[in-house]
Amino acid sequence: MWKKWFSKSGEVTKIPEVDLIDPTRIPQHVAVIMDGNGRWAQKQGLIRTFGHRAGVERLRDIVKAASRLGVKALTAYAFSTENWKRPDEEVNFLMSLFSEYLDTEIEELHQNQVKIRFIGKIDELALNLQHKIENAQARTSENTGLILNLAVNYGGRAEITRAVKIIAEKVQTGELKIEDISDNTIQNNLFTGELPDPDLLIRPSGDLRISNFLLWQSAYSELWFTDINWPDFKPEHLVQAIIDFQKRDRRFGGIKK
Ligand code: IPE
Ligand code: IPE
Ligand code: MG
Repeated sequence: MWKKWFSKSGEVTKIPEVDLIDPTRIPQHVAVIMDGNGRWAQKQGLIRTFGHRAGVERLRDIVKAASRLGVKALTAYAFSTENWKRPDEEVNFLMSLFSEYLDTEIEELHQNQVKIRFIGKIDELALNLQHKIENAQARTSENTGLILNLAVNYGGRAEITRAVKIIAEKVQTGELKIEDISDNTIQNNLFTGELPDPDLLIRPSGDLRISNFLLWQSAYSELWFTDINWPDFKPEHLVQAIIDFQKRDRRFGGIKK
């Protein structure tokens, strides 16, 4: 099924470096900060919104490539809790782009067994967008393929603050004892819930920072940066990131065996 989907664009099997990947050690959860859209557009004398549109195209390719490579979950950062600081026109454009994305992509994602989920403060988005998100999540909830988490109005700090409030409420009502609060209690109350932490976190665009993405979950993620802007990020780059990931020695605080 993926083969057919792939033949349209971004056929991973045609990337020579794919042979260098050890298929038994594919990162289960890959997170990506889709950054550099504005700079990509401006470099070509275009307005920033062109970059956002091109960015959506790349997401499509990377969803396919990740799925084809055997990644179980892909979390893509699309709009942060700080991105509201941008001019209204850009924010409005992005919101309508998310809406359009759901209209145009959901059918194909569904047919390819992708399970779509949104992480972030969805209840602060416009109602019509919230409805589309709910429909998309419900429609694909039984799918067994790639889990695609889209981080919209997402901030790592806001996510942790929210978890703390949920937990505090449970303590207040007596449902939970303070001594029973563990790392797992916090983890389970994050938007990502029971999803395993990202193994690999990718940031394109040349900026070397996390920008409030998956603060809790990325404690031991392998970070991979590239100067390429997101609209130029191709399946080849994902393949390269995975090859590099497989060369890393993940010790989790222990020592090498
Ligand atoms: C990422 O690209 C998309 C969003 C944050 C919504 P940017 O819009 O941040 O592009 P740059 O980083 O300014 O180039
Ligand atoms: C991070 O990029 C958020 C997304 C890509 C959605 P930003 O462009 O908002 O981050 P900073 O401002 O460069 O840290
Ligand atoms: Mg940016």
